[in-house]
Amino acid sequence: MQKNVYIKTFGCQMNERDSEIMGQVLSSLGYIEGIEIENADLVIVNTCSIRAKAEQKVMSLLGSLRKIKAQKPEMKICVAGCVAQQESKQLLEKMPHIDLIIGTQHIYKIGHWLEEVQAKGHAIIITGMDDSFSIPDFIPGWRNSNLEKQNHPDFRKFVTIMQGCNNYCSYCIVPYTRGREISRNYSDIIDEVKYLVNNGIQEITLLGQNVNSYGCNTTTQASQPPCSFPDLLHRVAEVADLQRLRFTTSHPKDLSDELIRCFKDIEILCPQFHLPVQSGSDAILTKMNRKYSIQNYFEKIDKLLSSRPGIALTTDIIIGFPGETERDFLLTMDLLEKIRFHGSFSFKYSDRPGTASCLLPDKVAEEIKSQRLAIFQARQDDISLERNREYVGRRRR
Ligand code: 5AD
Ligand code: SF4
Repeated sequence: MQKNVYIKTFGCQMNERDSEIMGQVLSSLGYIEGIEIENADLVIVNTCSIRAKAEQKVMSLLGSLRKIKAQKPEMKICVAGCVAQQESKQLLEKMPHIDLIIGTQHIYKIGHWLEEVQAKGHAIIITGMDDSFSIPDFIPGWRNSNLEKQNHPDFRKFVTIMQGCNNYCSYCIVPYTRGREISRNYSDIIDEVKYLVNNGIQEITLLGQNVNSYGCNTTTQASQPPCSFPDLLHRVAEVADLQRLRFTTSHPKDLSDELIRCFKDIEILCPQFHLPVQSGSDAILTKMNRKYSIQNYFEKIDKLLSSRPGIALTTDIIIGFPGETERDFLLTMDLLEKIRFHGSFSFKYSDRPGTASCLLPDKVAEEIKSQRLAIFQARQDDISLERNREYVGRRRR
């Protein structure tokens, strides 16, 4: 019998792709993806815990699902993603109407775990993490039945190339929720790209928490010759008929000359680079455990600009990290003036339980964080507008 699934995704592009993977797995089991939560037989909430605000939004949706499920007790509720991974048992205690809590390494087997829920008649938590986990071979099929997507078929897709992160930036929850870095076999990646291009996709974005260190982890590559991230870009770019290639996210400390050269050598690599800097102050970068200085960052930006003149630069900024003084904040503003990022994602620092920066003294008052964020964002908006105006009348890849 046909069943309807409603998938709500919070957070980053990794989560978007994970939702799509769950959609693909479920569509092969006969589920149709719908756009109305009330009509769903299964609701998947794919969660994000990167900042406290993201987690609050998840909790509020889960709270309202309690009422919907009271009207429709046969509806199944599954929670995936970082909140599921981190909170597992406590989450079920707070929200007993959840049927399945599925961790970041288990989404590929969501069909199996839903069957178990049905057979056992009680909630299941499956959140174990294994360092020798390998990302399964490519999963065919489309997230095919979302009505909006049928009317506007995708021309671009994400392809996951690695999972997890080994960097332990002091503010970041990701290494705890997504585990150690694991790279996917390059032949699986190429197969997936070929499949997508053969089905009309023109643009691919390669995804990972820290794509620059793709291939440094050998767990899943043991059966294949080593392949670095620049090697992978060259191989993917050779897939016939692929028009545009992008990737995200990069860490400045791992941005090699070889990768920078790809912007010169690979024509279909789009002239855009997202390079999160987080702060303009060396003192704060040290406390964040970022392992580069602003001087290093400028050097990499200069090299990128000479490799592909006019490349559009974007970044992530955290405002109000513990101990951030007015001077540190002005250094961030100064960096913005010097680089004139085309755009940025900027956030108020938020304590994440279990991370190193939670324990740091000198937390910045909420009010100061809000004021600084508003100043930063207003200036960024002006710069973005000026940057965008530079493109008027020009044609870009
Ligand atoms: N507080 C605020 N922003 C954060 N980010 C990650 N962790 C935190 C946190 N605890 C931001 C960083 C990262 C982006 C994905 O989210 O800027 O690059
Ligand atoms: Fe988090 Fe740092 Fe890893 Fe990015 S590189 S996911 S900010 S720990």
